[in-house]
Amino acid sequence: MISVVILISGRGSNLLSLLNAVDSGSIPARIVGVLANRPAAQGLQTAAARGVPTCVVDHRQFAEREDFDAALAAAIDRFVPDLVVLAGFMRILGNAFVHHFENRLINIHPSLLPAFPGLHTHRRALAEGVRIHGCSVHFVTADLDHGPLIVQAAVPVLDDDDEATLAARVLAQEHRIYPLAVRWFCEGRLRLLDGRVLLQAPQAGDAALIAPQLVAG
Ligand code: GAR
Repeated sequence: MISVVILISGRGSNLLSLLNAVDSGSIPARIVGVLANRPAAQGLQTAAARGVPTCVVDHRQFAEREDFDAALAAAIDRFVPDLVVLAGFMRILGNAFVHHFENRLINIHPSLLPAFPGLHTHRRALAEGVRIHGCSVHFVTADLDHGPLIVQAAVPVLDDDDEATLAARVLAQEHRIYPLAVRWFCEGRLRLLDGRVLLQAPQAGDAALIAPQLVAG
C-alpha cells in the first residue's frame, strides 16, 4: 500500500477531499501524516479528527529558507512516504527539497497552468477577462507552480462572477481532480516522458475535465 504525506498551510478542503477518497476506497493508499507550516492551520484538526498523525514545522522558527526546507524534509522523511502531496501549502520550496522528493512530489494550483502561476489567480483571471479558468495538478519542479501536468479541469468565467464565486467554482473542481491524480499515482499509472505525463490505460476524458454544465443558459 502506498504511503502518502500531505502538506497544508490553512483551510484544508483539498486535504478533506483526499481523506474522503481514501476512506471510500477510491484511492488505494494510506495517509500516514499531515504536516503544516502554521500551527493554526485548520486542516490539522481535520486530520487529527480522522486519527491521522499531524506535525507542525513552523517556518517562522527558521531564519533561512534552506534550514526550514531541511527541517521539513526531515519531518516528512520520518513518515517514509511514497508520495508527498502539497494541498494548499503556501511556502516556496527550494531546489534541494524538490530534488529530494523528485517524481514523488505533486501540487494543486488554482489556475490552468502555465497561466497565472503565483498568488491571486482568480482575481488575475477576472482582470484579464479570460473566459475559461480552472485548476491543475502537476509534478513539482524547482520552478514555482511549474512542472509536468497530470490533470486539469476547466470552468467557465461568467459575466457576474467575482473573485469568491469564481474561486468556489474552481475549488469544486479541485476536489474532483486531486483525488483522481493521487489515485492514478497510487495505481502506478503515471509515466514521465520528456517533461510530459503519460497516463496508462486512460479512459475517455481523463486528464482534462471540463464542467460545461456550469455555463449559464
Ligand atoms: C487551493 O485553492 C489550492 O489550489 C491553493 O490553495 C488553496 C488551498 O485550499 N494552492 C495554491 O495556490 C498553491 N500555489 P484548501 O486549504 O482548502 O485546500
